[in-house]
Amino acid sequence: MQLSQNPITPILKTLAGKKSAYNLEILLNDDARVRKLHFKLGGIEVDLSRQLISNEVWSNLLELARQAQIMPKINELTSGVKINISEGRPVTHFNLRSISKRDSKLWGRLTGFVKEIRNRKDILDVVNIGIGGSHLGSLMVNTALEAYSDGPNIHYVSNIDPSVISDVLQKCTPTKTIFILNSKSFTTTEVLKNASLVRDWLKKNNSYPSENVIYAVTASRNNAVSWGVNEDNIFDFEEGIGGRYSVWSAVGLPLMLSIGIKHFQEFLNGALLVDDHFQTEDILKNIPIIMSLIRVWNRSFLNYSSHAIIPYDYTLRNFSPYVQQLEMESNGKLVDLEGNTLDMPAGPLIWGGTGTDAQHSFFQFLHQGVEVVPVDILIPKISSKFEGNNEYAESHKILVANALAQAEALALGRNNVTQPHKSFPGNRPSTIISWEQSSPYNIGTLLALYENITISSGFIWGINSFDQWGVELGKEIAKDLLDNTKLSNFRPQVRNFFK
Ligand code: F6P
Repeated sequence: MQLSQNPITPILKTLAGKKSAYNLEILLNDDARVRKLHFKLGGIEVDLSRQLISNEVWSNLLELARQAQIMPKINELTSGVKINISEGRPVTHFNLRSISKRDSKLWGRLTGFVKEIRNRKDILDVVNIGIGGSHLGSLMVNTALEAYSDGPNIHYVSNIDPSVISDVLQKCTPTKTIFILNSKSFTTTEVLKNASLVRDWLKKNNSYPSENVIYAVTASRNNAVSWGVNEDNIFDFEEGIGGRYSVWSAVGLPLMLSIGIKHFQEFLNGALLVDDHFQTEDILKNIPIIMSLIRVWNRSFLNYSSHAIIPYDYTLRNFSPYVQQLEMESNGKLVDLEGNTLDMPAGPLIWGGTGTDAQHSFFQFLHQGVEVVPVDILIPKISSKFEGNNEYAESHKILVANALAQAEALALGRNNVTQPHKSFPGNRPSTIISWEQSSPYNIGTLLALYENITISSGFIWGINSFDQWGVELGKEIAKDLLDNTKLSNFRPQVRNFFK
């Protein structure tokens, strides 16, 4: 059932028409409401009180989720039903976090390998070659947990732009570096091209073939073997683990090498907490479901077409690109599960940047632009990098004050009748997500929270959040453009680029 067919949708449409009824200045003075919209899950706190929801909207949103059969759908998802129907697959990344289901054989190989490499003093650098889901998750968490990174230097190469791989290779010594070819399909152009440049570089430096230099993480073992990866150097994962949901699997190998197995397990445990909560908690208190209802309310009823993610922590600088792939590849869809065109829009445009830098670029638009953009403001209360360092404590306090100031300014605005250019309309929704410190456990909780928001909102929209057919056409056309036998099929304006 797509959103337009949900029996509660007409009620919410009517309520959305009364936008002026949601005055944050009044709503924020309702203590009972503010308390009701404040949630805690493990180390993470979520304050939804600055969202444009009255008690009436709130109760109808909860009913919307019930009518969408959200709990039975979560049950199907986690019990292995093939809900990714366009690819005929179940969704299995949850198993990687469940302790009883962690694949012991593969896990044993991974942990053994990680321990070996971290103990070897001759390996200084690890280069992960992967893109999209085989890149963004590990990169994001690796940066967020830099205070825990005590392994070899990890470099991430994703783009086909040769400046990336050439820069990284310049920093590495052939005999002291290992390469991870990280690709679910092992057909991705960027990965294969960069991998062949690595092979050339190793050959030039007399380090190829060598058994212990190139490793692969893939769900397509045969493709990796045909490329030339040694069978024993391949770490597999299941087809049911989608790229953007895969950091918990062998895809997280560069992250494991960086932070070690103990911290990686804490990261998994932080996610497990959210999974248990998502599967068992009543809708009334189920944080991923509630946050997904707010995504749907803002996007499909209030018609706010984009959503900004602003962490106030420089170590979270890769968080918005990560959520961008997670949500936009999952929910940037225009048909429902049966292939019918959606009558109401699904997934918003996700974008963002870090505070306070963002305040000096696009916050003008957020405060006074014509369009309203709901914002997630993320605040680790303690800096994991500078904890106990008095020299920097004041800077961190200023950072936190700025985060809260933005949420207050967006919500309450400030009227200036005589100087309209200095008037702030306010009533702009934001959510504050905070935690004490960016530990592996808290970052695991945070990521799984966003994953489950994505999945739950996909259920309410009635779409398939696990396929990504929209990326295929461009790939196909690029291949044709590089095929001399097909180039002549293109218009001159296009083919002339290749003269
Ligand atoms: O281009 C999109 C995509 O298919 C993503 O879904 C995926 O994460 C990425 O490419 C990389 O794919 P692979 O891991 O197969 O190389």
